[in-house]
Amino acid sequence: MTQTQKLLVTGATGTVGREVVAELLARGHAVRALTRDAAGAAVPDGAEVVQGDLTEPDTLAPALEGVTGLHLITFGGPYFTPLETGPRILELARAAGVRRVTVLHGGGPSLLEDAVRADDGVDWTVLMPVEFMANALEWADRIAASDEVREPFVSRLSAMVHEGDIGAVAAVALTEEGHGGREYVITGPELLTVGDKVAAVAAVRGREIALVELTEEQAVARWRAAGHPQDVIGFLLEAYGNTPEVGRTVVDTVEKVTGRPARTFARWAAEHADAFSAAPA
Ligand SMILES: NC(=O)c1ccc[n+]([C@@H]2O[C@H](COP(=O)([O-])OP(=O)(O)OC[C@H]3O[C@@H](n4cnc5c(N)ncnc54)[C@H](OP(=O)(O)O)[C@@H]3O)[C@@H](O)[C@H]2O)c1
Repeated sequence: MTQTQKLLVTGATGTVGREVVAELLARGHAVRALTRDAAGAAVPDGAEVVQGDLTEPDTLAPALEGVTGLHLITFGGPYFTPLETGPRILELARAAGVRRVTVLHGGGPSLLEDAVRADDGVDWTVLMPVEFMANALEWADRIAASDEVREPFVSRLSAMVHEGDIGAVAAVALTEEGHGGREYVITGPELLTVGDKVAAVAAVRGREIALVELTEEQAVARWRAAGHPQDVIGFLLEAYGNTPEVGRTVVDTVEKVTGRPARTFARWAAEHADAFSAAPA
């Protein structure tokens, strides 16, 4: 067990951030969880909730006091608007005595990530997870309502990763030596098609789920109806229709960094079985 440290986690109410918080707490560290809305924030018990906005970096100063490690996201608004405040955030972090930084790669160019990589005053680690298992929660309402999933590109392969494993890799990189100047691609333990995922969810529900393949045109129409801007639709088409090799190649980062095997989608589905059985909101 390493010595107790105090860490600041940004994005702490989000899919990955809350797992970073939980892992750090489980390892006995003190955690500050940043949110723009301290009154309404849901974060794991035991974390200190702190208010701040990454688009206004000076609001982070109190949260950074006494902190040795900082977990960063690269966005600060709807549709993952890239942050332009990276250099100032890093300046404040160094001044506060932060020695280690992890950054959750956002899948594209990022001024914040560039600022982190250029900072030789801290040990930085870039976390590059592939598709999150949690994306399957998008199916929950339709499955609960009509035992059905409608998706394009159903035979695409994904090395999807359990978000808890991203949190575990982050927690180690933030608190232990030997991870500075590294970028870690983080995947799950197996390659799965959409059909494999649907079958895993059906197994934990104990009830069949039909998989209906959408054409590309139908998928685009659905994403438009959901309000996605054109660049997001383009990103989704590329990610699903032409998944890059990195997204469909299993690597052993989780086991190497944390000493535990990466969690399976079957386990993730069992943990979230209730979400697929509940009546839709
Ligand atoms: N989904 C995937 O398959 C996948 C795969 C690889 C990488 N990624 C990347 O992962 C990232 C998304 O992570 P996620 O799913 O964990 O996010 P998420 O669940 O959407 O959570 C968003 C978090 O960002 C915080 N936030 C947003 N704007 C903020 C601001 N201005 N100041 C402070 N906090 C702010 C929110 O905090 P409050 O609302 O509490 O303030 C919330 O905690 C993206 O960069 C995406 O590209 C996603």
